[in-house]
Amino acid sequence: MKALTFHGRRDVRVDEVPDPRIEQPTDAVIKVTSSAICGSDLHLYEVLGPFLSKGDILGHEPMGIVEEVGAEVSHIKPGDRVVIPFNISCGSCWMCERGFFAQCETTQNRDTGKGASLFGYTELYGSIPGGQAEYLRVPQAHFGPIKVPDEHPDERFLFLSDILPTAWQAVAFAELPDDGTLAVLGAGPVGQFCARIGHHLGAPRVIVVDSVPERLEMARRHGAETVDSTDVDDVAEALIEMTSGRGPDGVIDAVGMEAHDSPAGKAAHAAVAALPDAVANPIADKMAVDRMGALRTAIKSVRRGGTVSVSGVYGGEVDPMPMMEMFDRGITMRMGQCHVKRWIDDILPAVMDDSDPLGTLDMTTHHLPLDQAPHGYEIFQKKQDNCIKVILHP
Ligand SMILES: NC(=O)c1ccc[n+]([C@@H]2O[C@H](COP(=O)([O-])OP(=O)(O)OC[C@H]3O[C@@H](n4cnc5c(N)ncnc54)[C@H](O)[C@@H]3O)[C@@H](O)[C@H]2O)c1
Ligand SMILES: [Zn+2]
Ligand SMILES: [Zn+2]
Repeated sequence: MKALTFHGRRDVRVDEVPDPRIEQPTDAVIKVTSSAICGSDLHLYEVLGPFLSKGDILGHEPMGIVEEVGAEVSHIKPGDRVVIPFNISCGSCWMCERGFFAQCETTQNRDTGKGASLFGYTELYGSIPGGQAEYLRVPQAHFGPIKVPDEHPDERFLFLSDILPTAWQAVAFAELPDDGTLAVLGAGPVGQFCARIGHHLGAPRVIVVDSVPERLEMARRHGAETVDSTDVDDVAEALIEMTSGRGPDGVIDAVGMEAHDSPAGKAAHAAVAALPDAVANPIADKMAVDRMGALRTAIKSVRRGGTVSVSGVYGGEVDPMPMMEMFDRGITMRMGQCHVKRWIDDILPAVMDDSDPLGTLDMTTHHLPLDQAPHGYEIFQKKQDNCIKVILHP
């Protein structure tokens, strides 16, 4: 089959690879119809290369049609239309029973000291072949796949694989009081859905921060106030000013480790990415610093006693944190990979609603054949051609 594979920093290619097949009785194989590129894939493309091998198949936002199931898979059958959550969880271990699906102890990566396995997300998370491919082997398929109706375009359901539940979790973790104001840093696909879900769950005011005009325009189209970070001297001060001098009650960091405006961090990233893998791995895992511009803004702007909710991915082990600010202001921080299936029942009514309250059909800017995936990565990373979200069609 054809699949999008990693070859090096900013070098991904569509290669011929062996077809996946059922290996365990709990596996399924799906024929992929749509597979999105995520901001998390951009971290692989730019800075997390030391944890990938040449030929690794990327992608963790797939959906498609069930081709074949193992003997222990009964809730789906060949021909069903399914969305595949990006984390691979068993549904029945101690963590899964408590809804911590991103920490599943059955698929946990104890040798690397990480949580549950993820599709297409490095040797740290199990080196599981990803879904930007014609076919995908789905481990733990007796639990993971989400069955969706046959009607409506893929886009209506595809984002259940990751960015819709990720945004839902980010808003839930922000613990807004009634009438609370939500600020969202980053107007990528995750930030866009955070803002829309914030409104949907009752926040009267949502303020979105970014510097990319078409992304800010999309946020306004869905009811958010916006701050262009290039228009203000200090984003945190601007947010505090907009909220009666107090700061937003909840601030979501939907940016992660590659934030703009952290020159020191950027130099450290470039230095690590340029090292040979054997040298770079321990450095990147044990000593790396993230580019923390957005996280610092979140911590400096949230009102005293408020909550910073981090959905952006971080990977540094020794990131310097402004502890005095965090302690004195008495903030709460919540973060982590999304526990996808924990939120699906909450989100499905909105996704099934024909008025499309979360705007699933107003997110994707580019539909590309799988062959053009390398172009998709490039324009998404460089924000060219007004690119906000790319869906690949194998
Ligand atoms: N926790 C999870 O389970 C989970 C799931 C999906 C994605 N993510 C992470 O969420 C983050 C966002 O994903 P995405 O797909 O929206 O990516 P994206 O790269 O499209 O969006 C990031 C946005 O942040 C903006 N930005 C950069 N620096 C900023 C700053 N200092 N202040 C404000 N905005 C800034 C960029 O212009 C961009 O629009 C990534 O880190 C991704 O890895 C996490
Ligand atoms: Zn993702
Ligand atoms: Zn489990």
